Amino acid sequence: MRTLVFGGSFDPPHRGHAALLRAAAERVLPDRILVVPAFHAPLKDAPSAPAPVRAELARLGLIARLPARWGRRARVDMSETRARRPVYAVETLARLKALDPAGKFHFVCGRDAAASFPRWKEPARLRRLATWWYGARASRAGAKTPPPPRHFRRLPGRFPDISSTELRSALALGQDCSDAVYPEVLAEARRHGLYSLDILDSLRKTLKPARYEHTLAMAALAEALARRHGEDPAKALLAGLLHDAGRRFSPPLMAEYARRRRLKVPEFALTAGLEPLLLHAHISEDLARREFGVADPEVLSAVRKHTLGDPQMSRLDRLVYVADACSPDRERADAAETRALAFVDLDAALARCVADKLAHALSRGAWLHPLTLSLWNRLVAR
Ligand SMILES: [Fe+2]
Ligand SMILES: [Fe+2]
Repeated sequence: MRTLVFGGSFDPPHRGHAALLRAAAERVLPDRILVVPAFHAPLKDAPSAPAPVRAELARLGLIARLPARWGRRARVDMSETRARRPVYAVETLARLKALDPAGKFHFVCGRDAAASFPRWKEPARLRRLATWWYGARASRAGAKTPPPPRHFRRLPGRFPDISSTELRSALALGQDCSDAVYPEVLAEARRHGLYSLDILDSLRKTLKPARYEHTLAMAALAEALARRHGEDPAKALLAGLLHDAGRRFSPPLMAEYARRRRLKVPEFALTAGLEPLLLHAHISEDLARREFGVADPEVLSAVRKHTLGDPQMSRLDRLVYVADACSPDRERADAAETRALAFVDLDAALARCVADKLAHALSRGAWLHPLTLSLWNRLVAR
């Protein structure tokens, strides 16, 4: 029996995957096709969507999209998913080979995965277990990744150049990704609240349009700053999306919410009495936990500290604070300058943002929250 194996994270499966699988089927003419979602691909970061959901997405976005001739012979192989640990391709192929010793196996993957083959587990053995296929990208002709090893055969044609990582952040930032993802995959992802689609839907309903636009602009900037400064872009993006969730309430309702939920805001009585708007960051943190099930303490901290600041701020806290203060939708004349500075010297940008915030508060004779003052003093003393 001739088996075509397509492994990957499929987080989410996209049109590039579908085109690759179809081209491989037409070239290999398999008796059966196994799409094998990884529980956690060994060389990749942990996937954001749970494995059983990715398996369903792979069925919708890959198998159901194959021409009937191939669709009939295709199924999702759940072996790696059920293993609940990272499974190496060599394990999967060896297992399939043991079940069908006379069978011929063909393995297909994208250009980047093929290039990383020498780092896969037991590459020499792996190479003998299957015939290897890859698909070249439609663009990025001069991309820096090395060419795939010579035993890889190239499928005819070129394949949409879609990165799942970029796709996840585009989805989380509310961008139209219909040219990359099939609608049924998107609908299923939305049903499971993947890729922050549930957060976006909620923000769209609860925030004023300008606040929603600010959120998207700020989250995109936070993500870019995280990339620049070696922080986790997904955490920065998530903190960005959530940071102003509490702005759905008017200031009097913020005070009421914070009181009812017993939020631990330093100087609560003065804050609630004099500057209740300042409570929204703690409310956003509370909503992040309760409504969106966010449990990551680093993300929650960045959300909580984005307004008042804190003398103790992690790098993620600081870059989220800065991204909020100088996001591209801010009209202040020097926001662009601060933004540029943030990519070069995050702490210098932070000092500037805190100074601006204090100056603005003083200019209107406002009460200053002690956390912001402590942050300022700490930055000066540094
Ligand atoms: Fe805010
Ligand atoms: Fe904000």
